[in-house]
Amino acid sequence: MGKKQKQQRKNNDMGIPLKEQIKPIFKERFLQMLGSEQEYQKFEDCILTPQRKSFRINSLRVEEPKQLAQQIKDKGIKISEVPWCKNAYFTEYDKEARSDLGNLYEHFTGRIYVQEATSMSPPELLEIPESIDNNFKVLDMCSSPGSKTTQIADLMKGEGILVANELDFKRLGPLKINLERAGYTNIVITNQDASRIQGEEIFDRICCDAPCSGSGVIRKSPKTIKTYNPKKLHQIQNLQISILQRGFELLKKGGIITYSTCSIDPEENELCVKRFLEENPTAILEQATLPGLILNNKLTKFYNTEIPKEITEKTIRIWPQDNDTNGFYVAKIRKSE
Ligand SMILES: C[S@@+](CC[C@H](N)C(=O)[O-])C[C@H]1O[C@@H](n2cnc3c(N)ncnc32)[C@H](O)[C@@H]1O
Repeated sequence: MGKKQKQQRKNNDMGIPLKEQIKPIFKERFLQMLGSEQEYQKFEDCILTPQRKSFRINSLRVEEPKQLAQQIKDKGIKISEVPWCKNAYFTEYDKEARSDLGNLYEHFTGRIYVQEATSMSPPELLEIPESIDNNFKVLDMCSSPGSKTTQIADLMKGEGILVANELDFKRLGPLKINLERAGYTNIVITNQDASRIQGEEIFDRICCDAPCSGSGVIRKSPKTIKTYNPKKLHQIQNLQISILQRGFELLKKGGIITYSTCSIDPEENELCVKRFLEENPTAILEQATLPGLILNNKLTKFYNTEIPKEITEKTIRIWPQDNDTNGFYVAKIRKSE
């Protein structure tokens, strides 16, 4: 099968254009959230186009990030800075450049990490101090394939202890390869159900990047359109809450936990955070802010359910059409002293 045919098969199902595979319930729900046919169309047009890739420069392996960025430009790849993450770049969408990024020498040698720009937001919100001691502990609860783990390790400058946990045994392989390639030696991998990790309040920071429906990553994984099923969201929410809850129990007083998903369904995001805050009076929702991120269409209501104003205002809902990215959600929570 030729390259072109393979691409067609990826985008189409039995020749049916992706647009026609959108289920009525998908449109109904997102139209409800976006409020008008015009806003919905912008969203739909965006998710039906392939996404631009992005990468982050590994500061452990690269002394002069700007020089490395120039080297990549010199290979003919058009890049522009990701405003909310230091030393991270978007590449302009180009079929050839897309596959090239993962084949670059810079990738094989761990000097760059190919990572969604939206996925760079939770580590940026963790407020990892510039200088940390060896007792500083960070837990990444659901870590494979390691995008956020390597980014957190970068922010920790290889100091302290970073625990990268992942439940799925098959996903430990890619995680291990990515961590080895990045070169950090302060990372320990564990293979546990994150909702049952044993221990006490020992972590200074926790990243809870929960398993989700993936409704925010249709541009990367178009088949999500076919499998979209809001009936499953309640069950997914229970899993997400149980992981976040356990993370919160393992967090030191005064520590920060981020909760994120690559979904844009309220049940997995605002409504999940709402339920968690109701059940945890010592959890303080903090203002999540990232420079240069455009945040339109904040959610205040979903059908008849009001979203508490605090959640609408303080958490980050990224619509794909606003920043030409994937969809993503992140909340920043502190445990009171
Ligand atoms: C959204 S992905 C994580 C992506 C990763 N944080 C990154 O940035 O590269 C969610 C991960 O959670 C894992 N997972 C699912 N259920 C889990 C559980 N109960 N405990 C720990 N990990 C789980 C999945 O196998 C998957 O690798």
